[in-house]
Amino acid sequence: MGGTFDISLDSLAGRSVTLEDVSSECTSELPQTQGKDLRAVRLLPGPEPQTAPCATGARDGATFFLETFGCQMNDHDSEKVAGVLLSRGYKQVESPDAASLVLYNTCSIREKAAQKVFSRLGEYRTKQAAGQVIGVLGCVAQQEGKEIFERAPWVSLVCGSASYRKLPELLAQVEAGNQRVTGLNTDTDETFETPVTRRDNPWRAYLTIIEGCDKACAYCVVPFTRGPERSRASDSILKEVRELAELGYSEVQLLGQTVNSYADPSSRRMRFSELLLAVADVPGMRRVRFTTSHPRDFGADIVAALEAQPKLCNHVHLPVQSGSTRVLREMVRTYTRDEYLEKIAMLRRAKRPIAITTDVIVGFPGETEADFAETLTLLEEVQYDSLFSFKYSPRPNTPSLSMPDAIPEAEKSRRLTVLQETQREIQSKRNASLVNTRFEVLVSGKSRRENQWSGHTSCHRVINFTSQEQNLLGTYVQVLATGAGPNSLVGEQVT
Ligand code: 5AD
Ligand code: SF4
Repeated sequence: MGGTFDISLDSLAGRSVTLEDVSSECTSELPQTQGKDLRAVRLLPGPEPQTAPCATGARDGATFFLETFGCQMNDHDSEKVAGVLLSRGYKQVESPDAASLVLYNTCSIREKAAQKVFSRLGEYRTKQAAGQVIGVLGCVAQQEGKEIFERAPWVSLVCGSASYRKLPELLAQVEAGNQRVTGLNTDTDETFETPVTRRDNPWRAYLTIIEGCDKACAYCVVPFTRGPERSRASDSILKEVRELAELGYSEVQLLGQTVNSYADPSSRRMRFSELLLAVADVPGMRRVRFTTSHPRDFGADIVAALEAQPKLCNHVHLPVQSGSTRVLREMVRTYTRDEYLEKIAMLRRAKRPIAITTDVIVGFPGETEADFAETLTLLEEVQYDSLFSFKYSPRPNTPSLSMPDAIPEAEKSRRLTVLQETQREIQSKRNASLVNTRFEVLVSGKSRRENQWSGHTSCHRVINFTSQEQNLLGTYVQVLATGAGPNSLVGEQVT
């Protein structure tokens, strides 16, 4: 039976592909966004609360259900929201039916993602029990605002991510019976730091170091839904990393829409590359990842840090979006094809091999067949290790919404298929070239089949492997790759 396996080179704003895996039947034990595994819960004592906790907590027996859509930033926001709720006395439950508070943390990067939320709200309406409170958080909340109350009057809380610091106050209003509570201000220089984070994954911790986005890509809603860039102070980040290490986490993934645009607001003024090295220096931390990088701010100092410190994983996600300089200009990406390729050349010159992955949009308004052909030649030139591809989706408030020469849906679909086939061949070859290579693997999944495990390499490939050992979850093992498919490797544990 062919199992499916998320190839897990997951992009910040929405996983686009779940591809058939070569080895089959391996079920990741990592709790996914939906159907969270409450056994994996860990409570993290984080920084001091910076919003005064409300005097009143939740009423006795209060429970919440939280479903997350979209990117890793949303996944991590949900971990922090869950922490806020737990510290107010709520208990987390796995079904909306059993919850007194039902929350949807939403994504609006593409139209389909946003629609999903309204269909979820519609579905749930019929089941809503008396006294049950429903809230919409995240990007759709920010984008639609109070309009949500009109479209779904059974919703009583609408809160965008830039207002999460106010969540305790907003929850107090909800608990007091207020039917229309909003947190929609994006004009903030605050980041969301919580006293308690309820992390889903027991080995790899997400940690947001910069929120919002100041880039103004013509197609993108993020600057509207997540507000301006706000970086978290380096001392506070390093303190949390030390706490994570003490709790037994060995891998940390630093998050931001443009993570490498990090600008330390404290007097230390740490550069992003210095922060990477400082995080890797924390005793107990074995792997440090970061995503997503913007090509414009990707400098030689980051490559030098990767070269100098093997704990920094050898993987960089560097979204290109298009291979055509003309389209890149229309998209306001602030680099040309050649400038992007210079960044790639810099990474390829590094003293150790670094996996490179990317995001591509097909069918941006006015994208000609020749522009698209340039994207295909860019894929051939760069030889990406993985790629997330999207059909252009017109979004509210964005400059590209009113651009002429929309590409018909059928043509977008055709281009997407061609792009994915091209990349599939590239990936098959790249992965095949890794057979007989040894990898250090963080084991994160156990198959139902005996002696079958899975995990990630430092370069963020999924590898499914055999081992006679027991209790490997969360450990690092050496694995020899013995086979390869387009989306993952297979192997066996070696000593
Ligand atoms: N349409 C399609 N894809 C988009 N992305 C962002 N906005 C849009 C849009 N309007 C893609 C970009 C980005 C990824 C997270 O989502 O490729 O890098
Ligand atoms: Fe959106 Fe561009 Fe910011 Fe990325 S850099 S979040 S694509 S505006």
